[in-house]
Amino acid sequence: MKLYDLIKNGDEYISLVGLGYVGMPIAVEFAKKGVKVIGFDINEHRIHEYKNGIDSTKEVGDEALKNTSVYFTNDEIDLKKALFHIVAVPTPINQDKTPDLSPVINASRTVGRNLRKGSIVVYESTVYPGVTEDICGKILEEESGLRCGIDFKIGYSPERINPGDKIHRLETITKIVSGMDAESLETISKVYELVIEAGVHRVSSLKVAEAAKVVENSQRDINIAFMNELAMVFDKMGIDTNEVIEAMNTKWNALNFKPGLVGGHCIGVDPYYFTYEAEKLGYHSQIILSGRKINDSMGEFVADALIKQLILSGKTPINSKVIILGITFKENCPDIRNSKVTDIIKRLNDYGIFPNVVDPLADPVLTKQAYNVELSDIKNIHNADAILFAVGHDQFKSLSLNDINSFYKVMPNDQKIIIDVKGLLPLSEVKEAGYRIWRL
Ligand SMILES: NC(=O)c1ccc[n+]([C@@H]2O[C@H](COP(=O)([O-])OP(=O)(O)OC[C@H]3O[C@@H](n4cnc5c(N)ncnc54)[C@H](O)[C@@H]3O)[C@@H](O)[C@H]2O)c1
Repeated sequence: MKLYDLIKNGDEYISLVGLGYVGMPIAVEFAKKGVKVIGFDINEHRIHEYKNGIDSTKEVGDEALKNTSVYFTNDEIDLKKALFHIVAVPTPINQDKTPDLSPVINASRTVGRNLRKGSIVVYESTVYPGVTEDICGKILEEESGLRCGIDFKIGYSPERINPGDKIHRLETITKIVSGMDAESLETISKVYELVIEAGVHRVSSLKVAEAAKVVENSQRDINIAFMNELAMVFDKMGIDTNEVIEAMNTKWNALNFKPGLVGGHCIGVDPYYFTYEAEKLGYHSQIILSGRKINDSMGEFVADALIKQLILSGKTPINSKVIILGITFKENCPDIRNSKVTDIIKRLNDYGIFPNVVDPLADPVLTKQAYNVELSDIKNIHNADAILFAVGHDQFKSLSLNDINSFYKVMPNDQKIIIDVKGLLPLSEVKEAGYRIWRL
């Protein structure tokens, strides 16, 4: 029987290697379709949580984890049970912005040590073109003693999920799929079709699939950088960027991007994977790296705007109480990796301002560990001079002007400052209510 049929009939396991925001939801989704799934991760704490029905990613929810048949494990020997492996480990960058492939390399060693003849290994981690074949395939061969293309096959299928987004889900996003030959492409496509309702898009090579992922994120990065550049210029011109964008978007071919902080481990990171490989081939990126530079500077720009507003309203920055709402890298998602809100905090700290940070989604322990920031409870926010809305969590969007007002100092003729990075608040209402508002 063919591998696809064996998987579909529950005669062979698939494995998910790396069970974070990407890997865990895939594991749970396959299990829902009756596929037997081994979920492997090196993080014991994570496995313990999953086994106990705790979804720290908030992607599938505790109930789904409690009811899933996925076999969660830290023991790599369990990988031997599977004939189809999906690798979804992190792909961060080093301090010098070069790709850190160590998780992908280590995961390949683990899979390689436990690889059986006849297996397929599919990588989902975002990488630059060539990594899967030239680096991972070779490691799998070395560790297993098997031959790639003969004893086992490899493929690449980038993940495109958008954590926190309840509309664009794993099942509803078209999946790009590649395999090293026609047979593996067919098997990989059919296996993914078990869970991807939107269907798969087959491409001719692993390199095309790898490239498609890094450039779709680079495309977003550049477009946001353009909006951020406009925001900086309009700030000098005294024009409201959001209003300009709203007007511009009435044209049929407008792209609907907004200025903002570009954090996280995808859009702000993946372009560096692409430019790294381009550079090695002698091409120095001009557009992509310029966009990165602009986006990486936005935290400081926002912090400087806040300080300016404090001074213009007659406050002494160092004595002002500043509240920041949100520290995760995006709305309605608990992920704090590569948060650009921390750039704002650092810049404010340089000026002697130590803001109170509120984020009901972020894990207080992880936030303290990663950024040395103590999170405050929104219930304890009083006597503020300025409130900076940094992340568009639903909890912040639902605050009324009365709620917001209760956070400020009660003092006659005191100016209440709002910095609205995400354009969450209704501008004219806020102005009418007497706030001094600045937005990106
Ligand atoms: N999160 C997203 O929004 C998103 C979207 C699309 C693509 N991606 C890409 O998917 C990949 C995974 O991202 P993520 O957000 O799920 O990361 P994550 O950090 O949430 O999860 C990765 C998991 O891999 C585990 N891990 C690390 N090394 C391992 C190893 N050697 N063996 C087994 N497990 C190991 C970690 O413990 C962690 O639990 C990255 O390449 C990322 O760029 C992420």
